Amino acid sequence: MKLREIGKNVYWLGAIDWDRRLFDSLIPLPDGTSYNAYLVKGSEKTVLLDTVDETMTELLMAQLEQVPKIDYIVIHHVEQDHAGSLPTVMAKYPGARVLCTPKAKELIIDHLLVDPAKVDTVADGQKISLGDREIEFLHMPWVHWPETMATWLPDDQILFTCDLFGSHLATSSLYVTDKARAYESAKRYYAEIMMPFRKLIQKYIARVSQMPVRLIAPSHGPLHEDPSFILDAYRDWTSDKSKNEVVVAYISMHGSTRRMVDYLVACLAERGIEVHRFDLTTVDLGKLAIALVDASTIILGTPTVHVGPHPNVFMATHLANALRPKLKFASIINSYGWGTKAVEKIAELIPNLNVNIIDPVVVKGFPKQDDLNALEELAQRVLDAHKEAGVV
Ligand code: FEO
Repeated sequence: MKLREIGKNVYWLGAIDWDRRLFDSLIPLPDGTSYNAYLVKGSEKTVLLDTVDETMTELLMAQLEQVPKIDYIVIHHVEQDHAGSLPTVMAKYPGARVLCTPKAKELIIDHLLVDPAKVDTVADGQKISLGDREIEFLHMPWVHWPETMATWLPDDQILFTCDLFGSHLATSSLYVTDKARAYESAKRYYAEIMMPFRKLIQKYIARVSQMPVRLIAPSHGPLHEDPSFILDAYRDWTSDKSKNEVVVAYISMHGSTRRMVDYLVACLAERGIEVHRFDLTTVDLGKLAIALVDASTIILGTPTVHVGPHPNVFMATHLANALRPKLKFASIINSYGWGTKAVEKIAELIPNLNVNIIDPVVVKGFPKQDDLNALEELAQRVLDAHKEAGVV
C-alpha cells in the first residue's frame, strides 16, 4: 500500500493486517485490523506519528523509502502494535527525536530497549513547530495504557487519536463507508479495550467536542470524516445509563441448565427485556463484551462441577470483572446433582461489579414445574429491578 494523502502534506501510511485473527493472544479479530501511521510534512520538519506492529515493519519501511528525512517520531502509545517498528525506523533516521509522554518514555526504554538519549518528553498542550505549521499534544492517559496521548494538527483540523476511536477492521477504504459495519467494529473495540476507562473517556470526549475537528484519524481501522458519528457512539457507550438488557451467559453439561436458560430467556423476552444469550462453550468473547456495554443485568447459568461453577464461568466472570461494565444487577441459575456451592463461589468472583444480587434459582437435577415457576419469578424480579433503577 502506498502513502495516501489525507490532508495538505498529511499522509496515511502503515499496514492492513487482513489475516490477523487474534490480538494479545486473547481478543478475536473476525475482521482483521490495521496499524495506521501518519506522516505530516512542514516547511522545515517532518514528523511520523506512530509506527506499525513489528510483524509488518517491512511494509512500513518500503513506504518510507520515499521519505528522505524524518525529524520527529511521535509515539502516542507504546503497545507493540504501534511502537513495534520504532527501533527499525530510528535506525533509518538516526537524527530523529522520539516525542512522547514521560510515562511513555519509561515504557519505550523498558519494552523496546531504545536509547533514552533519543527520547524527549512532551507536556499536555505543548506545541512543536514544523516550520509553516505546528502540532499540539493532548495527554489522554488510560486509553488504554497509562502513557497515551493524541496529536492535534490545527491547520488541517485532524486529530490523531491512536487506539481511541479505533476499530479492528481491515478494509481497503481509508475512511468509514459502511457505517453499520464501522459501528459494530468500533463498539467491539471499545468494549474489549476501553470500557474499563469509561469515566476518563467521558472527559476526553468533552475535550474533543470543544475542538473544531474535521477528521479523526485513529491508529486502527478506517478514519472518521464525520467525527460526530464516532463521538455520539462513544457518548452513548460511556454514558452512565444502562439499558433494559440482560446478558445470559451459561454452560450446560446434560441439558438441565440449558432448559432453565431457555425458559428464563422466554420469560424475560415476554416482559420486553432484550436478552443477549451466550453459550460459554462457543462464545465469541468480543460479542460478549459488546453485550456488556449496555446491559443492566448479567445472569450466569451453570451446572455444579466439583461443588463450584463450571470452569468456563470463571472465564466469563473474569472478563466481566475486568471490563467493569455498567451492570447494576446480577443473578445466578444453577442445576446441581447432590450438593452445591456454585452461588457462593460465583459471588466471590465478581468483586469489581458493583451489582445488587437478585435472588438466584438453584435446582436439583432437571427443572420441574416449581422450578420453572421460580424462573418466571426471577424474570419478574429483573423487570421490577430495571423499573426501579429507571432503565425501562
Ligand atoms: Fe492498538 Fe493498545 O494498541
